[in-house]
Amino acid sequence: MIIPVVMAGGTGSRLWPMSRELYPKQYLRLNGDKSMLQETISRLEGLDVVPPILICNEQHRFLAAEQLRQLGLAAGNIILEPVGRNTAPAIALAALNATLNGEDPLLLVLAADHVIEDINAFHQAIINAIPHADHGKLVTFGIVATGPETGYGYIQRGECLGEGKMAFDIQRFVEKPDFETANRYLSSGEYYWNSGMFIFRAKTYLDELSKYRPDILNACQNAFSNIEKDSLQDFIRVDKDAFLACPDESIDYAVMEATAEGVVIPLDAGWNDVGSWSALWEVNVKDTKNNCLDGDVFTHDTDNCYISTDEKLVAAVGVTNLVIVNTKDAVLVIDKSQVQDVKKVVQYLKDNE
Ligand code: GDD
Ligand code: MG
Repeated sequence: MIIPVVMAGGTGSRLWPMSRELYPKQYLRLNGDKSMLQETISRLEGLDVVPPILICNEQHRFLAAEQLRQLGLAAGNIILEPVGRNTAPAIALAALNATLNGEDPLLLVLAADHVIEDINAFHQAIINAIPHADHGKLVTFGIVATGPETGYGYIQRGECLGEGKMAFDIQRFVEKPDFETANRYLSSGEYYWNSGMFIFRAKTYLDELSKYRPDILNACQNAFSNIEKDSLQDFIRVDKDAFLACPDESIDYAVMEATAEGVVIPLDAGWNDVGSWSALWEVNVKDTKNNCLDGDVFTHDTDNCYISTDEKLVAAVGVTNLVIVNTKDAVLVIDKSQVQDVKKVVQYLKDNE
């Protein structure tokens, strides 16, 4: 049995001001009529999987439930986190839930905010991953690195497993290296970007977590020993105080950097994590001047821009490589080469709340 686990608890802060605390990017319809969360689930159609478990923040429960309902998935389980503690604990909660009856299913862990163009290639990569996951490996999907991005994990491939270069041992996993290191990895040609999607047995993950971060596992076990299942809404609530005591860490730092059981499956499927305004510009339709425009926008002598407006006309003249996002209560103007720094704005807003 394969249970898809969709992680939807991130804040998507690099897409401020469109992505907000109360309405993060995975719930937005950024490039289609389905939200990114709905796309994530729909793209599993055709694979032999059971309905997904969704794990998200408590404050988004109705948004999440409604989006599942629109897909005809009212019965989907939704685990609610009272606070975000990042992906290592989120996946631990899903794994604890999946092993409650003594079972040990495969978990296909997915981020809720990726774009994947070639669904067949994506499905094939999952099928190639299953035997390795069955044998106790932590399998991730590697994207051929095309730039020294610092927002990704980097995976050095080791020995080829089996024929056809479809799976490799992970020699080294480095989460979010600095720019120089990322550049070095890129020129070596031996590294993939971590796609942030994984497949493993629930117990394999829990065992590895207990080896490297028993503190996280303990906190999650405590939070889980006191669960409440709201059978009407299909919400699973964990103990708030116990979960508050859990360290904040991603699976990448907590487990993937440390484990000796990592396997990478190369994935060439038009993957994009839409983690920034420039990534969104890349995946969207552009005009003849390479501008991606959304809403009431006038341009003249303007190239390579992403301009979006909810209300009010936005007019851009003689500018290049800008991102301009106009929402009801905030306007962002930023150079496309500096889009990672949107986090600075979000930090400023938090500090001045
Ligand atoms: N439930 C839950 N709780 N989900 C979370 C939480 C949390 O506390 N924090 C993040 N998520 C979800 C996000 O909504 C997203 O779908 C996914 O987990 C990944 O989190 P991000 O915060 O987007 O991670 P990242 O982009 O910085 O890094 C990860 O993804 C990269 C590829 O996109 C890492 O796995 C990198 O190694 C990888 O390269
Ligand atoms: Mg991300």
